[in-house]
Amino acid sequence: MSNYHIKHLEEYYQVYRKSVREPENFWAEVAEEHFMWRKRWNTVLNWDFEKPEIKWFEGAQLNITENCIDRHLRTKGNQTAIIFEPNSPEDEAEHITYQQLHDRVCQMANVLKDKGIKKGDRVCIYLPMIPELAIALLACARIGAIHSVVFAGFSSKALASRINDSSCKMVITSDGSYRGSKTIDLKGIVDESLELCTTVEHVLVVNRIDSEITMKSGRDVWLQPLLDKASTICEPEIMNAEDPLFILYTSGSTGKPKGMVHTTGGYMVYTAYTFKNVFQYKDGDVYWCTADIGWITGHSYIVYGPLANGATTVMFEGVPQYPDFGRFWQIVEKHKVNQFYTAPTAIRALGKQNISFVENCDLSSLKVLGSVGEPINEEAWHWYNDNIGKHKSPIVDTWWQTETGGIMITPIPYVTPTKPTYATLPFPGIQPALLDEEGQELKGNQVDGRLCIKFPWPSIARTIWGDHQRYKDTYFSAFNGMYFTGDGALRDEVGYYRITGRVDDVIIVSGHNLGTAPIEDAINEHPAVAESAIVGFPHDVKGNALYGYVMLKETGESRDQNNLRNEINQLIKDRVGAIAKLDKIQFTEGLPKTRSGKIMRRILRKIASKDLSNLGDTSTLLNPECVQVIIDESL
Ligand code: WT7
Repeated sequence: MSNYHIKHLEEYYQVYRKSVREPENFWAEVAEEHFMWRKRWNTVLNWDFEKPEIKWFEGAQLNITENCIDRHLRTKGNQTAIIFEPNSPEDEAEHITYQQLHDRVCQMANVLKDKGIKKGDRVCIYLPMIPELAIALLACARIGAIHSVVFAGFSSKALASRINDSSCKMVITSDGSYRGSKTIDLKGIVDESLELCTTVEHVLVVNRIDSEITMKSGRDVWLQPLLDKASTICEPEIMNAEDPLFILYTSGSTGKPKGMVHTTGGYMVYTAYTFKNVFQYKDGDVYWCTADIGWITGHSYIVYGPLANGATTVMFEGVPQYPDFGRFWQIVEKHKVNQFYTAPTAIRALGKQNISFVENCDLSSLKVLGSVGEPINEEAWHWYNDNIGKHKSPIVDTWWQTETGGIMITPIPYVTPTKPTYATLPFPGIQPALLDEEGQELKGNQVDGRLCIKFPWPSIARTIWGDHQRYKDTYFSAFNGMYFTGDGALRDEVGYYRITGRVDDVIIVSGHNLGTAPIEDAINEHPAVAESAIVGFPHDVKGNALYGYVMLKETGESRDQNNLRNEINQLIKDRVGAIAKLDKIQFTEGLPKTRSGKIMRRILRKIASKDLSNLGDTSTLLNPECVQVIIDESL
C-alpha cells in the first residue's frame, strides 16, 4: 500500500500510528516511492535535540529541480506548471508549461553561473510576484546556490541587514513593482540598501514596469537580454540531502532577524507529501495560494510542494482589493481554481465587503479551502465556510511556521471532520506535546499549555545562519529535549488542537510575524524618545494591530504629539517596513517594569485591549504607581 495519499480517517490513524512507531521506515517509504534520487541515503535520520543536530537522508544525493521539473517533462511537458495572473485584470494571464519552466529555469541558472555564482553562494532575491521570482528560486536550486528571498515590501534597511547577515554575492530584483493602482520603486530601495553592503558583486534587474532607473555600471545589468542569449540546458548540480537549499529570515522576539536554514532532501519530501495530502491535490487540478513567495508559505506551497507533485500553481501579482474587492473571486472563476489557500486577515477584510462581490462569481470549481498564518476566529471561519466553501468545501486550518518548513497540524480535507478555529490533528510524522510552565508534559485531553514537538520531521530548519547557539537557545532550551514553537495551544476532549497564539514577544499582524524588539529599536532612534514598548491588541481585520507606549525625554519643550506620531511611524516604515506601523501611540511618563528592569508587556497588553479586569499582581513591580497613570491616560 502506498501511504502517499490518505483517503479516509481510518487510514489517517493507521498512517499516523506507523509514522510515530517507525518514523524512519515511514519516511523512507515516502521518500523512496515518490522522488528521484541520484544516490540513495545511508541513514534515514540522525538526531540530537540537545546539541541540536538533525540530519535526514544522509548520504543521499539529488537536485530538487529535477524533482520539481525534469521528471515531469515526459508526461506533463505541455501541462501548465505556473499560471501567472498579473496585477491588472486587463493584462493577460500567462500559462507556463513544465517544458517552458524547464527552459527558463535553465536559462536563468546559466546566467547566474556566468556571473560567477557557484554552489553554496548566497543570492538575495527581492522581486514582486512575477514568474521570474519562482524561476529565480529554482535557478539557484539548479546550480546549488542558496537563495535568500526578501519580501519586496521590506524597507532598504531591512533588506541590507538580511543581505549582510548571509553575505549575499548577488541581488536579483526588478525596476519596480505594481501594487494595485500604485507602483513601487524596488530598484531605488535596492540601491539605497547596497550603500550599506559590501559583498554584492552583481545586481540582475527584471524590467517589470518600464521605469527610468539608474544602473550602476559594472554592478547592475538588465536580465532579459542575458536570458535571451542563454542556453536552455543546464545540468543540475548534484546536491547532498543536507546541503542548504535556502535561507529565509523570520523575526525573533529579540534583536535581529533569524536566517532560518532549510536543507534539500527532507524539505523536498515533507513539502511535497504535505501538499498532496493537505490539499488532496489530484492531477489536473488548479491550485492557488495567495501568499507572497517572500514568506515560507510561498516557498513551500506555491513553488516547491506543488511543483514536486507536478501540479498547476497560480501566482497572483496583485492585491485583493484591486480593482475591486471581487478580485480573488474573479480569479477563482477565471482559472477554475480547485484549492484556494489564504490567510485569516484576507478572509476578514473580504468578509466585510458587499456580498455581491462573491455572488457575482462562479465558485463551483472549489474543492478545498485553506487558512494559514494566525488563528482564524469563529466569525471568519463561518463566513469562509458559508460563502466561499458553501458548506461543501472543507476548510483546512493549517498551523506551521517558517522554522517547520511545512504544515504541522491540520485537518486532511474529506478525511478529518473540521471544527471551527481548530487546526485539529497532527500531520503524520508530527508528535506534538503540551507543557506547563514548569516543563511538565500535560498528558491526556482537555489541557492547555505551551506547544512543543517531541520528534524531528524532515523539513525542520537545521540552524540559524551564522548563529547555531541562537538556534539552540530559541528552540531547544525552553523545554528539555523538545522543539519549542513559541505558541500556546489547547487539546480538546477528542484530541484536536487549537492554537491560542504566541506566548513570546512576537506579534502576528495580518499574518505577518513581527518581533517587538526591532520596532522598539526604530522608535527609540527618534531624538525625543527615551524608551518604548510595543504590544498587540485585537483588530477586526488584521487580527492584531500594534499599540506603542512611548516615553519621551524630559527636555522641557513641548512638541506637537501628532507630528511626533507621524515621525515615529515614518521611522518604523524606514527601518522595518510599512507593515510594522503602529495603529495607536500613547505617550506616557513611565513603563511598568519588573525589579530586574524588564518591561511587563503582559500588563500593557491588557491595557491596550481594554481588558482591565485582571491585571494580576502589580505590587511586585519596580514602579507599580505607573500602572494606574497609564490606564487613566489610555481612556
Ligand atoms: C506563527 C508562524 C506558516 C506560514 C505563515 C506564518 C502563527 C501560523 C497558524 C494557524 C494559528 C498560526 C503561529 C506561528 N500561525 N499558522 N493556522 N493558527 N496560528 O509563518 O511567519 O513563521 O509565523 O504564525 O503563531 O508560530 P511565520
